[in-house]
Amino acid sequence: METSGLARRLSSRFIAGETLADALAVARSLNAEGISVTLDHLGENVASLEEAAASRDEYIRALDQIQAAGLSANVSIKLTQFGIDFDEAACYENVELLVKVAARHSSFVRVDMESSAYTDRTLRLVTDLHARYAAIGVVIQAYLYRSERDVESLCRQGIRIRLCKGAYLEPAGVAYERKADVDRNFVHLMKILLETGVYPAIATHDQAMIAETERFAAARQIAPSAFEFQMLYGIRRDIQKRLVSKGYRLRLYIPYGKAWYPYFMRRLAERPANVLFLARNLFR
Ligand code: FDA
Repeated sequence: METSGLARRLSSRFIAGETLADALAVARSLNAEGISVTLDHLGENVASLEEAAASRDEYIRALDQIQAAGLSANVSIKLTQFGIDFDEAACYENVELLVKVAARHSSFVRVDMESSAYTDRTLRLVTDLHARYAAIGVVIQAYLYRSERDVESLCRQGIRIRLCKGAYLEPAGVAYERKADVDRNFVHLMKILLETGVYPAIATHDQAMIAETERFAAARQIAPSAFEFQMLYGIRRDIQKRLVSKGYRLRLYIPYGKAWYPYFMRRLAERPANVLFLARNLFR
């Protein structure tokens, strides 16, 4: 799939391109519209520590070029891309090198949250590196039962959180299964974050979640500059435009690179209409 020209064209709705230059060009044009970005170099679950080191170096290059170009951008990483499946200590060192560069550039590294098999290890690494360099934050998934406790603990430590619903298939023992329960928890956690979090990110395309956030911020007189909305590149551009025109801060998550297949499949799985979109374009 990843080397097929046709498949690449179909995925281009969600993926900025194959190279860092492609991603920076997208970042530049979004910045011109008043939208910040976070760059994601695709490639989770690497197969060796050499590949993990190559990912780290790609991200260091990204931070250097973001800085050189003066873009409003940071980076999002996955620990399975930094070698956590092979060696936790080596993974820690890889992330540490990147966070040092981010701190030097007054930038920021967001550690995406993967399946629940990684939650403890991810929070441990982020908490430790945050205490040493500050320029790192994490993601909390509203579908996990444990998330309220994690949010409270991270807020106490002043660690920046991106709140999302969660994108992995989890067993019922650890995660809410019904959308209504996930949404209810999302709103609950959003309120905690807006009141006690450090510059939280509310990451969703769900109009109901966005409306609740707007309502709560207005009711508590929380300034639009105290938090940001985040959305994925290519999804609900109508809502993106509306938020910016209303004066909210918006950051788009920009994936780029050759290894786009798992990311693309999660986006298809989230929304059956995307499969229809894919099928229509295949016929075309
Ligand atoms: P929901 O899935 O309920 O969708 C609400 C509406 O949004 C839909 O009705 C549709 O209109 C639109 N929509 C949503 N997904 C769409 C799609 N794929 N295509 C087209 N329209 C779509 N997850 C995770 O587990 N770990 C992480 O680190 C991150 N990081 C992350 C960063 C950012 C910036 C965002 C926006 C999301 C994530 N996610 C994530 C993914 C997240 O957990 C979740 O899977 C998706 O955002 C979809 O959930 P929504 O909140 O959009 O709501």
